[in-house]
Amino acid sequence: MGDLAGTLGTACADAFEAIGLDRKWGAVRRSDRPELADFQCNGAMGAAKSAGRVPRDVAGEVAERLAGHAAIASCEVAGPGFLNIRVTEGALTARAEAVRAEDMAGAEKVADAERVLIDFGGPNVAKPMHVGHLRSAVIGDTLQRVLRFLGDDTVSDTHLGDWGLQMGHLVTELYDEQPELIYFDAEYTGPYPEDPPVTIDDLGRLYPQASAKAKADEARNERSQQAVAELQAGRPGYRALLKHFINVSVAALKQDYAFLNVSFDLWKGESDVDHLIPGLVEDFKARGLAREDDGAVIVDIAREGENVPVEGKDGKVKLKNAMPPIMLVNSRGGTGYHTTDLATILDRMQMEHPPQRMLYVVDQRQALHFEQVFRAAGKAGLFPTDKMEHIGFGTVNGPDGKPFKTREGGVLRLADLNGMALEEAEKKITEGGRLPEDMGHEERDAVAAAVALAALRFADLQNTRTTNYIFDLERFTSFEGKTGPYLLYAAVRIKSLLRRAEEEGHAPGAIRVESEAERALVLALDGFGHALTGTREKRMPHILCEHIYNLAQAFSAFYGAHPIAAEKDADTRASRLGLCEAVLKQLETGLDLIGIKVPERM
Ligand code: ARG
Repeated sequence: MGDLAGTLGTACADAFEAIGLDRKWGAVRRSDRPELADFQCNGAMGAAKSAGRVPRDVAGEVAERLAGHAAIASCEVAGPGFLNIRVTEGALTARAEAVRAEDMAGAEKVADAERVLIDFGGPNVAKPMHVGHLRSAVIGDTLQRVLRFLGDDTVSDTHLGDWGLQMGHLVTELYDEQPELIYFDAEYTGPYPEDPPVTIDDLGRLYPQASAKAKADEARNERSQQAVAELQAGRPGYRALLKHFINVSVAALKQDYAFLNVSFDLWKGESDVDHLIPGLVEDFKARGLAREDDGAVIVDIAREGENVPVEGKDGKVKLKNAMPPIMLVNSRGGTGYHTTDLATILDRMQMEHPPQRMLYVVDQRQALHFEQVFRAAGKAGLFPTDKMEHIGFGTVNGPDGKPFKTREGGVLRLADLNGMALEEAEKKITEGGRLPEDMGHEERDAVAAAVALAALRFADLQNTRTTNYIFDLERFTSFEGKTGPYLLYAAVRIKSLLRRAEEEGHAPGAIRVESEAERALVLALDGFGHALTGTREKRMPHILCEHIYNLAQAFSAFYGAHPIAAEKDADTRASRLGLCEAVLKQLETGLDLIGIKVPERM
């Protein structure tokens, strides 16, 4: 069953069409004035203008045709020609029942489903993840959940950063500590030991150590560069080390991601596509798409009107609308970030079911990089430029408005962030004295983890993705306000209410939508599908978050307005319990789509 907004939209479009006007004028949305109407249609003004008619006359004719529609209780013309529509109790009741009964809790699959590859996460081997990686993980994972729910065929890839200078740092730093390791013997060709020579703590120590030295000492940096070049050229010992580094890293990453309820279909990395690079470069050259410059291989991607030289007042020539070319191969023969991204596209097109679209959920600050990659991919016919989207996002800032750092001034590791959130969540659930007394340790820990997860994910997702936000754990974990824990509490409250009613022998029954609070609640439920398609079309999870929050608030108002389990009239009680079931179903579905798990009680 479709939602009310859609049903009314079709009815209005039919009415406009019947009086010889375009269907597009029939668009319907929730009313700005809920005391006057449930829905409104503002099309009569535009339609009248286009037809040279009087707006109120057009609105009147449409209203006349709408009268008698099964879902419409009344349709009034207001002001210059607005149509104010109120829906029938029967239509609201049917909607509430549909939400309760349908698998998708009132939403529907989209008609234009696609096979979409979602590239998100993007952690780097050895380098700790920072809060920017948190954003990519939760936004990407939410989009993956929503698209999949709506019928898209998604495949997600974490695209590990495992091919850059950091690998050279690790190799050389490990050599300095343990030069006797077999991996450093250039004569030896394998087999190599199965057990890794390092732990995740070693990696966490070796990388910053090496990177600090390399910054201070050019010769030390050169050794790392040399090691990368040898690694990329295929030196067996270094390749074996690379595999160990990746495995050790991935095991730790999986833990951090599991805490955030984030998952990937593929755990591929930059190093997985290195064998495709020589062919890719040859192909670009052979087809005249690349040029050689001082040993480097360059691809120009500027379009007409870009890179226009203009002479400034100071007499210096600058480029207007600059679009720098990309370097496929540098003068040392090395390849970088652009090249691995292009080779990765090639690799993805070799999948059994190649994607029709690719989304890259990465920090807004990489916008130029993706613009370049998309253009180069389009130019070479690897993938159409207009089917690749960079889903950028803003930074997570500290109270000072600058990108969030630890007290010591370093990047905050995701694992530490998770730990901090857990600690704060434990504090909050203890402080409130809200946990049932018979709750054992295990259940308590699970509740704390659920609160921490809800806090982190909702705090991030509720913001318009492109804006920056301030990291404030104290606020995120609060049970009051627009927070994840507030939503968890709302869902858990309904669960316990239904449980208690059941214990008292009160079963949910047929829903009847009667009071204003009930109407408002069902109208809130009706917005789910629209919120989901909006989230999908704009790639903006905050639209879904907004819906979930509104629903929780409408439920609170309903809960405050009426007795539910304590209601004396049996049919009314059964109806209200039925409504509770519908709300719980959609709330849990919605929370699951933003990656939040609801405990049974808390
Ligand atoms: N590893 C990169 C970073 O930390 C992000 C990778 C994003 N994905 C991509 N296909 N380039 O900045």
